[in-house]
Formats: sequence, structure tokens, C-alpha cells
Amino acid sequence: MKLSSANINVMVKACRKAAKILIRDFGEIEKLQVSLKGPGDFVTVSDKKVEKVLIDELMKARPNYSILSEEIGEVNNDESFKWIIDPIDGTANFLHGIPHFAISIGLEHNKEIICGIIYDPIKDEMFTAEKGNGSYLNNQRMRVSSRSKLKDCIIFTGGPKQDSTEKETALKEYNNFSSKVLIPIRKLGSASLDMAYVAAGRCDGFWQRNLNYWDIAAGIILVIEAGGFVTDFHGNNKHIQDKSILVTNAKINKEMIEILSG
Ligand code: IPD
Ligand code: CA
Ligand code: CA
Repeated sequence: MKLSSANINVMVKACRKAAKILIRDFGEIEKLQVSLKGPGDFVTVSDKKVEKVLIDELMKARPNYSILSEEIGEVNNDESFKWIIDPIDGTANFLHGIPHFAISIGLEHNKEIICGIIYDPIKDEMFTAEKGNGSYLNNQRMRVSSRSKLKDCIIFTGGPKQDSTEKETALKEYNNFSSKVLIPIRKLGSASLDMAYVAAGRCDGFWQRNLNYWDIAAGIILVIEAGGFVTDFHGNNKHIQDKSILVTNAKINKEMIEILSG
């Protein structure tokens, strides 16, 4: 049984409260699928409602912390601590009634992520991590997989986004990778859960271009604390906030870089 820190407790409480809205609204989506208007606007409203509950809860517990959140942007307070929030990661899944999306919250201290939580409310899977204290799935310690040969692996990816400036590069990269490595490549549609699944050893690696910081902030600490690597496509970990990331177990990082850059 792990020892939860005060910050993790705050994040868990906020997630559980916001998840109630998310679960209720997800139940409505099915009905909206068949309506003429579709669930589009409804999803935007859900996103904002979930974000508001998260921010209210986090602010109540830590009034001085700054915030970067997908819908409202920046709230500037004490710059040394900052919550990085994605209220629904996997919106397209949510919109289509596919039960695979999550709330993601990272906590930065002096520009370094020190805590993270990714909560999948439908499967009731709570992934948490704190610097120096390991990564957990519902209180069970997580470790990245130990598979060392790419041929035995499952790799996740996402994108490219329609409006991405790197769309062509991302498409070439995908085609190059899938033609060189004949292994299962999956696009599950939630970057935060992709990273949580690498941390849990369910898949072995993940790469994607053009992510936003709120997609990956919590995932970074989850993977690192589970013994994995989070780097850019050249193996550097200095600028992972640059949003094109490669996430792997401890064994396949080099091989992935060789193939992605080839
Ligand atoms: C998206 C998801 C998706 C990834 C996109 C993200 P959103 O976030 O993480 O898996 O491929 O790049 O924008 O829009 O659902 O919060
Ligand atoms: Ca997202
Ligand atoms: Ca989102």
C-alpha cells in the first residue's frame, strides 16, 4: 500500500468529483448521437464543466498555485507551482460514445513535473505518480514492460492533427515506421492514457508529434517513475515540453529512435 502525499490527495479528490459529471454526461452522449444536432456543443459544455470543478477544487486546496488548463488557459499566481490540466483527454472518443478518455493533471514545481494523475472514469482506473515515490494504478505499483525486442512489442501513436504544420512529416514517419517494423501499432485516441499504459507495462512505447503540454504533463512523471524513458525523437530529455515525444520502456528507446529517425 502506498503512502499518498498531500498533493496527490488533493488531485485525487478533484478528479473524483469532476468524474461524476463526466460519467453522467457520457451517459447522455448515446442519446445525443442519434439526435439531429449531435453531441458537438454538449461536449464543449461538458469539457468546461469538468474543468471548472477541477479548478475550483484545486484552488480551494492550493489557492496560490498557478494553472495552465486547456480551455481557460493560464491563471497566474505563484509561478513556482503550477497545475497543468486537461479536463477531457480523448474528446473525440467521448463524443462518439467510445469509453476511452481521461482527466489528466500534472503538478509542476520550478518547471519540473513532480506529481501526476490520469483518471479513466469509465474503467475506474486511477494512475498516479510522484517524484521519488513511484507510479501506481489504483494503489498497485506499476512498472514499464521489460520487452527488449521491438518485434515483441505493441506501440501506440496518435495524430497527425489536420491543422498541424508537421502533418506531412508525421504521416511519413508513420508510414516509415509501420513499413519497417511489422508489429501492432495502435491509435487509441487519448495521449494521456497512451502514456499511462506505457507506465503500466500494457504497451511498450508511444510516439507523437504536436502534442500540447496538458496532454503529456501527468504522463511524463508516470512513465519516469515507472522506470521508463520520456525523450524527444533524438533521445534528449531536456525539451520534452516541446510536445513531440517518444515514450518507451527502458529497453527499446534506442531502437525506436533509430527507426523514427531513419
Ligand atoms: C487529443 C488526444 C489524442 C491526441 C491529440 C490530442 P484532446 O487531446 O490526446 O489522443 O492524438 O493530439 O489533442 O483534444 O482529446 O484533449
Ligand atoms: Ca488532450
Ligand atoms: Ca482535452
